[in-house]
Amino acid sequence: MPHIVGIAGSLRRHSFNLGVLNAARDLMPAGATLSVHTLTDIPLYNADEEEAGGLPPAVAALKDAVAQADGVLLATPEYNNGIPGVFKNAIDWMSRPTDDIGRIFRNRPFAVIGASPGGFGTILAQDGWLPVLRMLGARPWFGGRLMISGAGQLFDGNGRLTDEATRERLREFLAGFTSFTAAGA
Ligand code: FNR
Repeated sequence: MPHIVGIAGSLRRHSFNLGVLNAARDLMPAGATLSVHTLTDIPLYNADEEEAGGLPPAVAALKDAVAQADGVLLATPEYNNGIPGVFKNAIDWMSRPTDDIGRIFRNRPFAVIGASPGGFGTILAQDGWLPVLRMLGARPWFGGRLMISGAGQLFDGNGRLTDEATRERLREFLAGFTSFTAAGA
């Protein structure tokens, strides 16, 4: 049964990107599952601390979840037309040590989506992930795109994605990415 790990790239309690992944849990194709992961407890990367103590427990746990999944869905906010630092920081941690990159990234299915209250739906942040995924040797899915703009109108006060048209676009994206992960390398 295909399993996708979704990572929300925001620490905000009512993050739109977290809300998109929470909705995705219910919109997966039959027989497939998605678990939602956050960046809580991931410290700032510091090579001295890595050398002294290895990976922080939250990083090791997220890496293990990714290693066991069939695919990874990054839900990225956009800050100043780029990737938010907290999200890049987490992926930087996950790329350590370098001899473990193969287990987490290399030739493994990744997809990127994002939500923003602005008009462009994180398109520049999503593009910003491309060189990172290339560097890590991931296998990105380009068969669909999901840029959720005007997010302020699409969620209720509890961060639930209520807009039916957006839920449908998300459902279609998840179906495409899930079948890509099932297709193998
Ligand atoms: C933003 N925001 C933003 N939005 C966007 O579409 N393009 C951008 O370049 C930026 N830049 C930006 C910079 C900084 C420092 C902040 C704090 C915010 C707005 C951003 O999309 C909004 O805060 C979202 O709500 C962030 O995503 P989450 O936390 O809701 O998932």
